Amino acid sequence: MKDFAPACERNKGPILNILRDILDQEALVLEIGSGTGQHAGHFAYHLPHIRWQPSELPDRLDSIRAYRMDSGLVNLLEPFGLDLLQPLWPIEHANAVVCINTIHIVPWRGVEKLLSGVAGLLSTGGLFYVYGPYRYSDRPLEPSNEEFDRWLRARDHQSGIRDFDAVNALARRHNLTLVDDRPMPANNRSIWWAKH
Ligand SMILES: C[S@@+](CC[C@H](N)C(=O)[O-])C[C@H]1O[C@@H](n2cnc3c(N)ncnc32)[C@H](O)[C@@H]1O
Repeated sequence: MKDFAPACERNKGPILNILRDILDQEALVLEIGSGTGQHAGHFAYHLPHIRWQPSELPDRLDSIRAYRMDSGLVNLLEPFGLDLLQPLWPIEHANAVVCINTIHIVPWRGVEKLLSGVAGLLSTGGLFYVYGPYRYSDRPLEPSNEEFDRWLRARDHQSGIRDFDAVNALARRHNLTLVDDRPMPANNRSIWWAKH
C-alpha cells in the first residue's frame, strides 16, 4: 500500500531543514498534492508541534493512509481528497500551506486556483511554502531542468516548469508577499510567501 518515490527520500531532509525554521510555532499545516505520503510522515514525525494535514486527488489517498497508519503519529491527520482545480476545497482555514513539486504538474489555471485558494485559507502572517524547479528571467534554465521541462511537456502539454515572476505576480495579486527564495539541491528552490 505504501508507495515509494526516490525523489522524496532525497529532498525530505533539505526541505525539513527549511520547515523547521519557518514552522516553529504550533500550527495546522495543509499539504496539497501529498503524493505518496512520505513527506507527510517525515515532517509530522520531526515537527511534533505541527498538525500535518495531507491532501491529494481523491483517488490517490491509499498510500498516504498507509504511511499514516504505520507511523502511529497523532499529529499526522487523516488525509482528505483535495483537487485544487475544484472551486470548493474541503478546508476553510490553515496556518500554513505546503505544496511540493506540484506547481509544474497542474495546468496554469491550476496554479491560479492554487494561489487564490491558499490565500483564502490563510490569515495574516500565514505562510505558503512551495518546493520545486522554477525559471528566472535573469538566467537560462539549468540543463537538467531544461530536460525535465521537455519531459513534462511531452507527457502533458499543460505541465511545465513555471516562471518565478509569473507565480510571484499571482501571489502578490492575492496578498501574498515573498519572504524568501532559496536554492536547494538538484536545481530546485524553496520559496515562501506570507499573507498580509
Ligand atoms: C510530482 S507529484 C509530487 C507529489 C509529492 N508532493 C512529492 O513531492 O512527491 C505531483 C502531485 O500532484 C498531484 N496532483 C495533480 N493534479 C492535482 C490536482 N488537480 N489537485 C491536487 N493534486 C494534484 C498528483 O496526484 C501528484 O501526487
